[in-house]
Amino acid sequence: MRRDREEGSADCQRAERRLREMSVVWSTLESYDQKEMNMGYAIEAEGLVKHYGSTKALDGVDLVVPQGRLLGVLGPNGAGKTTAVRVLATLLRPDAGRATVGGFDVVREAHQVRSLIGLTGQYAAVDEMLTGVENLVMIGRLLGLSRAEAKSRAGELLERFALTEAGGRAAKTFSGGMRRRLDLAASLVGRPQVLFLDEPTTGLDPRSRTDLWDVVRGLMADGVTVLLTTQYLEEADQLADDIVVFDHGKVIASGTSDQLKATTGAQVLEVRPLDGDRLDLVAQVVGEIIGAAPETAGGRVTAAVHDPAVVPVIVRRLDELGVIASELSLRKSSLDEVFLALTGHRAEDQPAQEKEEVPA
Ligand SMILES: Nc1ncnc2c1ncn2[C@@H]1O[C@H](COP(=O)(O)OP(=O)(O)O)[C@@H](O)[C@H]1O
Ligand SMILES: [Mg+2]
Repeated sequence: MRRDREEGSADCQRAERRLREMSVVWSTLESYDQKEMNMGYAIEAEGLVKHYGSTKALDGVDLVVPQGRLLGVLGPNGAGKTTAVRVLATLLRPDAGRATVGGFDVVREAHQVRSLIGLTGQYAAVDEMLTGVENLVMIGRLLGLSRAEAKSRAGELLERFALTEAGGRAAKTFSGGMRRRLDLAASLVGRPQVLFLDEPTTGLDPRSRTDLWDVVRGLMADGVTVLLTTQYLEEADQLADDIVVFDHGKVIASGTSDQLKATTGAQVLEVRPLDGDRLDLVAQVVGEIIGAAPETAGGRVTAAVHDPAVVPVIVRRLDELGVIASELSLRKSSLDEVFLALTGHRAEDQPAQEKEEVPA
């Protein structure tokens, strides 16, 4: 200002004003650029490390989820999935590394992150004693909605998750599948941009599982970004755009479902001859036709199959040789097989198969 007065030139003042305006434009452009970069990925994590005593639950995890996409985090029990979700959802501080959600740092800007996210899964927020409606209205009120808004949002969500009829009953009377849907509805009251679903279908019966898959697909259609953890390759296969495989706190593989399955062969062929003495012959036929030595164990020949067209060829050949199969099946690779192919060892903690049979 002193300089203005001293020089007193209108030209000079104009030039200075212009310079100031330019710098505003520049800084706006800069922040716009940054915003654009951040907006590309809804979730970004780099080198996340988390210890529990001597257990390294996360051992340098990198991952990104583009806006509006669903990332499947696939891994057996104890792989570090929940720990990763808890760090990204600001519930747990990483020992090292950094992560952003919606461009906000999960440690330094936890408050902003929380306003963007919904979380559901192993730590359900649903109150057992309240009804479905009451649960959702309560959450809406906690999020600052008016009573009328909270009620209408609750009604909308119950309708969407086929819970309208059950909405007046206490949550403790809900079946497993209904509970999960209510839990999911609860996490959506605040219209999150980013949703964390931690093993949303573990323990559900197959029917409830496919119902929940439909619900998740509906969310995707709304443009919500989702990080979903699962122990089931099939689930990741059904829902995920991209998959990362966790083992011992590390990302051991990433790619699309097809890319991962290509590591094992897309499908698995199993043949059990009625006459056990013919097992070696079956192994020989299968090996010749698929061009790789199959496994023989438990009276059964098992082989990874990249091209399903080989199956009728094998069937015909066995028929010519007079071999009768008591069992012949083609199935998708299991997580365990993908694991074995990726790591050379089996997943130490098997997915809890018996849990799958629990009725909803
Ligand atoms: N609160 C905790 N205290 C001690 N160890 C834990 C705790 N939570 C998880 N762990 C351990 O950290 C590892 C990763 O666990 P977690 O993230 O829950 O895996 P996942 O969700 O894939 O099953 C496991 O070895 C587990 O036993
Ligand atoms: Mg877990």
